[in-house]
Amino acid sequence: MASSAVGPEQVKLLLAACRDAKEFAYCPYSNYPVGAALLTSDGKIFSGCNVENACYPLGVCAERTAIQKAVSEGHTKFRAIAVICNSRELYATPCGSCRQVLREFGKYWDIYLAKADGTYIQKTLEDLLPFSFGPEDLKEV
Ligand code: THU
Repeated sequence: MASSAVGPEQVKLLLAACRDAKEFAYCPYSNYPVGAALLTSDGKIFSGCNVENACYPLGVCAERTAIQKAVSEGHTKFRAIAVICNSRELYATPCGSCRQVLREFGKYWDIYLAKADGTYIQKTLEDLLPFSFGPEDLKEV
């Protein structure tokens, strides 16, 4: 199933928002700043950065920061997320835990994976986490 297309202007806005969010990354341990920006079905953008902790396992990824900001303000329908890191060579890509957290909100929405210079590739959640487990699996048959 194809995901609903996000217009080029919205992709630009998402990329700008995730790049801005990356500036706030709190990552003194990894020195690997990440920014993410989510587009809701009604056109709002929620961004987030990674927030690390001296107790290392408590650090949170940028994608989950953005999801928690959006959900805690009443938004659970998403069309796209963009993620950016500082690499000039590799596209930012969500960790396994973030893929599962994103999957909670659907399989067929767009993920834009960007490099530091803003070049990106487009994937869907299904591309990143095929044959996934989600809310539908908990329904009684
Ligand atoms: N990180 C993210 O925020 N998102 C990703 O997509 C991958 C990894 C963070 C977690 C940690 O703060 C740092 O990057 C290094 O793993």
